[in-house]
Amino acid sequence: MDMIQLIDLTKIYRGLKAVDRVNLDIEKGLCFGFLGPNGAGKTTTIRMMAGVLKPTGGRIILNGHDLAKVPSEAKQCVGFIPDRPFLYEKLTGLEFLQFVAVLYGLGPSPSLEGEIRELLELFELSAWREELIESYSHGMKQRLVMCSALIHRPQILLVDEPMVGLDPKGARLVKDIFRDQTSGGKTIFMSTHSLQVAEEVCDEVAIIQEGRIIARGTTGELRRQAGMDGNLEDLFLRLTQEGD
Ligand SMILES: Nc1ncnc2c1ncn2[C@@H]1O[C@H](COP(=O)(O)OP(=O)(O)OP(=O)(O)O)[C@@H](O)[C@H]1O
Ligand SMILES: [Mg+2]
Repeated sequence: MDMIQLIDLTKIYRGLKAVDRVNLDIEKGLCFGFLGPNGAGKTTTIRMMAGVLKPTGGRIILNGHDLAKVPSEAKQCVGFIPDRPFLYEKLTGLEFLQFVAVLYGLGPSPSLEGEIRELLELFELSAWREELIESYSHGMKQRLVMCSALIHRPQILLVDEPMVGLDPKGARLVKDIFRDQTSGGKTIFMSTHSLQVAEEVCDEVAIIQEGRIIARGTTGELRRQAGMDGNLEDLFLRLTQEGD
């Protein structure tokens, strides 16, 4: 079953086609990597999928729900981790998660408390739960945002540049969690600049360039496309420079 369907998805900013008729079907349980150079349209696509930016045209179907027609059903299926998240610095980590739970309509309950405890444990933030967010390091803030995106147990995780700013240990932790999530049947759609990250964690990737999908497949398939040496970086540079 396709968990994510993008149909002719388009975003035009004052004449600039930031996203240009993007079509993608992504199966349940996949970790899908969205690759492309700066300004290619990755963040714009993800923000439209999260329902925070209105498309100029096309459709977004999440777990069978059309985001334009039944926005609350569609959004309930999604956890969104933006590239520049907003956090309330004067809350503690625990208070922030409780606040996010309220936004998702989850009332205070022992099961919610248990869920929050487990998430903090998973992201190695338990010791910091009572500390103000302003005292967190960049990587800790990022991990807290990931906790907050999982609180309502979404089927789909949308993640914009998850590894930026994480140290090797934090990056490993996040990669392991992503793998656990997909083996549990969750679907992940993540943007990244890093071919290495894509190879390590993504089952399939698409490359976007100037708003259009120019390649799609497993990293193995793209490697074969790259030719003899199978250098993905060369393929990426070749594909993304051909149009220039
Ligand atoms: N609010 C906006 N108004 C006008 N143009 C915008 C706006 N947001 C993005 N753009 C333009 O749309 C294009 C796609 O931007 P987007 O942020 O989606 O790229 P990206 O692939 O996420 O890049 P990066 O790798 O740098 O994060 C760029 O040309 C950008 O300048
Ligand atoms: Mg971006």
